[in-house]
Amino acid sequence: MSALLRDFEGKGALVTAAGAGIGRSIALDLARRGAAVLVTDRSPADARQVADEIDAAGGRAQALQLDVKDAQGIRDAVDATVALAGGLDLLFNVAGINIPKNVEMMEEDEWASVLDVNLTSIYRSAKHAIPQMRRRGGGAIVNVASIAGVLAENRCGAYSASKGGVVLLTRNMAMDFARDNIRVNAVCPGSTRTPRTEGYWRNSPTGKSEMAELCPMKRSAEPEEIARPAIFLASADASYITGAILVVDGGMTAGFRIPTFDRM
Ligand SMILES: NC(=O)c1ccc[n+]([C@@H]2O[C@H](COP(=O)([O-])OP(=O)(O)OC[C@H]3O[C@@H](n4cnc5c(N)ncnc54)[C@H](O)[C@@H]3O)[C@@H](O)[C@H]2O)c1
Repeated sequence: MSALLRDFEGKGALVTAAGAGIGRSIALDLARRGAAVLVTDRSPADARQVADEIDAAGGRAQALQLDVKDAQGIRDAVDATVALAGGLDLLFNVAGINIPKNVEMMEEDEWASVLDVNLTSIYRSAKHAIPQMRRRGGGAIVNVASIAGVLAENRCGAYSASKGGVVLLTRNMAMDFARDNIRVNAVCPGSTRTPRTEGYWRNSPTGKSEMAELCPMKRSAEPEEIARPAIFLASADASYITGAILVVDGGMTAGFRIPTFDRM
């Protein structure tokens, strides 16, 4: 492997929800680029499988079961990253869930669960990771928000509210920790092919992604197409980027199409 590609050599990375989808791609790519990765997921079997893939490819990883609702679990994950890598430099907050209901349909416990996993967990992990990053002289946090945090999605009240919260929390943390040399950025994916979304589209009338149909590029992203921009934000190439909200959506939120103009 080229030395140029091993730009995260010596870095310790903590990735949440790394057992599948976007988080898995981030973990694999970070390890390929030299980071020691704590692969965490609510599913211990999925975390183990990704850590094994990294080991098999010659990288450094450790699996840990972590539900991001668990504050003590997050503290343990931060400590485990430090034990694995000698310090924590990179935090990728990937965990997110959606319960597609409008506010009238949604129960209190469902609302609380979406806000907890998608937004409050970022407060929790940042709170415990930041002192460790300060010890290393700085670090980078990348939050995975959504285009639903920029524009509202129908029947996704809690999801949109939580992801909008992630966008502003990202900007807030960027301001508060810039002097500690800790950069904080977010990616906002559009439709991305992951186990969860594959489940949605299986039940659509065409069996295909109805979201991809609305997108100018007429396709969903592969998880790698979200992971690479997320990792860019954590890399030295983004050394002057903090508080950025990088939309990665195939043009989905670029504008709206007026059929009349297409016919002129
Ligand atoms: N896939 C998309 O189209 C899409 C679009 C926009 C934003 N996002 C965001 O990207 C992130 C990752 O989404 P995805 O589709 O890759 O994931 P996914 O739903 O396919 O699941 C990835 C992993 O998350 C884990 N997970 C779920 N709840 C967890 C919890 N409480 N604690 C720890 N792990 C948990 C699961 O076990 C699974 O292994 C989420 O924040 C999601 O909101 C995804």
